[in-house]
Amino acid sequence: MNTFPEGFLFGTATSAHQVEGGNTNSDWWEWEHRNGTPCVEPSGDACDFYHRYRDDIALMAGLGFNAFRFGIEWARIEPEEGEFSVAALDHYRRILAACREFRLAPIVTFHHYTLPRWLQAHGGFLLDDYPRLFERYCRRATAALGDLIAYACTINEPEGLGEGGFILGVNPPGRKGDVAGMWRVTENVLVAHRLAAAAIRSQAKIPVGVTLALPDLQYEDGATPGDRPVELNSRISDRFFELARDDDFIGVQTYTRNRFGPEGPRGPHVIWGQRLQEEREDTTQLGQEYYPQALGSTIRRAWQSTGGTPVLVTESGIATTADPKRIAFIAAALREVLACLDDGIDVRGYCYWTLLDNFEWSLGYGPRFGLVAVDRTTFARAPKPSASWLGAVARSRVLPVRARGAMK
Ligand code: BGC
Repeated sequence: MNTFPEGFLFGTATSAHQVEGGNTNSDWWEWEHRNGTPCVEPSGDACDFYHRYRDDIALMAGLGFNAFRFGIEWARIEPEEGEFSVAALDHYRRILAACREFRLAPIVTFHHYTLPRWLQAHGGFLLDDYPRLFERYCRRATAALGDLIAYACTINEPEGLGEGGFILGVNPPGRKGDVAGMWRVTENVLVAHRLAAAAIRSQAKIPVGVTLALPDLQYEDGATPGDRPVELNSRISDRFFELARDDDFIGVQTYTRNRFGPEGPRGPHVIWGQRLQEEREDTTQLGQEYYPQALGSTIRRAWQSTGGTPVLVTESGIATTADPKRIAFIAAALREVLACLDDGIDVRGYCYWTLLDNFEWSLGYGPRFGLVAVDRTTFARAPKPSASWLGAVARSRVLPVRARGAMK
């Protein structure tokens, strides 16, 4: 089969901080300007999506997409504790209305890495009150926006929040080696997801889920599983899979695989937050292995581990300066999705990460994940061939046979 089912969602995924620009009230903005962090440059105006969202939505619709994943920013919606901004909520309502007007199903992320500064100042994810504060923000945001949302994602990649901020120190608050802190954060985000999902459901009848970071972990004969960062994350994913048994969907986000042999990690083995790398044929600009086939295993894992919760691929993508490589990557990833559908797995859609070349966190604007290039001075958008290619697949719901044959 090379046809996707009717109603299958084809979209791109973005996050608020990475594209909006001027997100000055968030902890990441402060982090980007602090000495001694790994950030190579500040986010600044990002892609000015905050003002250009309507043109971007029209562009996606014109290309053939029928879904769009974007984030709403807690730091704008609740700029000080307990003070909710009607203007910020209205802004997001206008984005949602534009999605509806252009027939893109809006998939909304409530939390994607960033926290309001006031919350980080009080302890951020470590704070005992953090789950309750997140629940309140989700309830308020859904009351204002819920009728226009198609899918609600609570927390983006919660598995890495403790590790990035407390073990590796590559995210705010920048602590290193604080194992107790990492586990405390993990317990807190688990509770936060559960409370937020219930709060969102109390305000709107929309599917709710969590979006997980799922590299494909592969162990060769003689390899022993251990406590390496990706393995710790994977154990945390298992705990979220348990919660996701009660959710309406599970978000799968896969970029690569991590292999282990008897001697330890094998092949390109990179975790998020490191340096921009020299891209090779078998690697990406992030130094990850080029391995689009990973998506098949992670969709199967999510489906099995949740006892059959519907799957939405909320992120799949590649950082590359070679656009034909991007097309080959997406084609191979989509072939995996088709194989999963053939096996009876309920996969609802595929969102490519990402629409625009954007702010890749501490790596700044170097990595090119986008289907669309962005002029860093004028913000002019220039769709790459991959944008029209994936748009045509979305419109026809057919993966071209030639593309399938050309894949590894
Ligand atoms: C994150 C994005 C990030 C992307 C590419 C994902 O893990 O959700 O924010 O830009 O990976 O590294």
